[in-house]
Amino acid sequence: MVKNLQFLQAQKGKRKIAMATGYDYPTAVLLDQTNMDVVLIGDSVGTNVLGYQSEKEVTLDDIIHHTKAVNRGIKNAYIVADLSYQTYTNPDMALTNAKKLLASGANGIKLEGYHPSIIHHLHKNHIEVWAHIGYNAQFHEKAAIQGKSFSQAKQLLTETLHLQEAGAQMVILELVPEEVARAITNKLTIPTIGIGAGRYTDGQVLVIQDLLGITSYQFRHAKKYAELNSDIKSAFENYIKEVKEGIFPTESNFTHMKEEDLSLFDEWMKNKEKVTN
Ligand code: KIV
Repeated sequence: MVKNLQFLQAQKGKRKIAMATGYDYPTAVLLDQTNMDVVLIGDSVGTNVLGYQSEKEVTLDDIIHHTKAVNRGIKNAYIVADLSYQTYTNPDMALTNAKKLLASGANGIKLEGYHPSIIHHLHKNHIEVWAHIGYNAQFHEKAAIQGKSFSQAKQLLTETLHLQEAGAQMVILELVPEEVARAITNKLTIPTIGIGAGRYTDGQVLVIQDLLGITSYQFRHAKKYAELNSDIKSAFENYIKEVKEGIFPTESNFTHMKEEDLSLFDEWMKNKEKVTN
């Protein structure tokens, strides 16, 4: 079943929306074989896949490259892609870059922070826009809970309402206290998707590396549903051992020449000039 924006918005108050990041074709195929609602090509691709130190190093071309790969593997899930750092510093730049992400296969784009005029401009130009508030890797130095105090919570709720009025159609709440996320979720008419924001958002998102246990550390906000890190390492170790001990490959992994060709070949090897073809 194809998940479009209307479908996602209609889930508010009915059932939770499941979302994960995805960065490559084979994983996208697997995600799409499940009932994953949304796949995000986030700027987390930088630290999780590209070996960058920070999300700020991720370029729009990086996001485009990975969006194209994910798009090739997705038939049903909604694809949202991040506008990377400093690619939406004014409304026209944001629109130009958003169109590039849509041309690469994204259904909608996401941008971090409080930018009502940018969101308004994108919405006016028929772009499906996701806001992303709370902790923003592109703007905050350290990953920390946002909106903990009374005044911060008030500000977060007020700003999120403004983003909805400006045209945001979905919103990510990252690292905010559960009470604040719940209040925002109840006030908004658009769905909220939480990460480290508690139980009451309209859906959840996890970085796929954390979900699969490829990341070696354990974030409080995440849950490992597999231990791929150790599975992959032990696969490598077994392979190395079998290569070194001559256990791999076996008969089932290779082919032989026909007797007839083999004897011709042997003959030719012994004395090249006698080979008649
Ligand atoms: O880039 C990303 O993976 C994100 C999620 C943390 C929501 O923005």
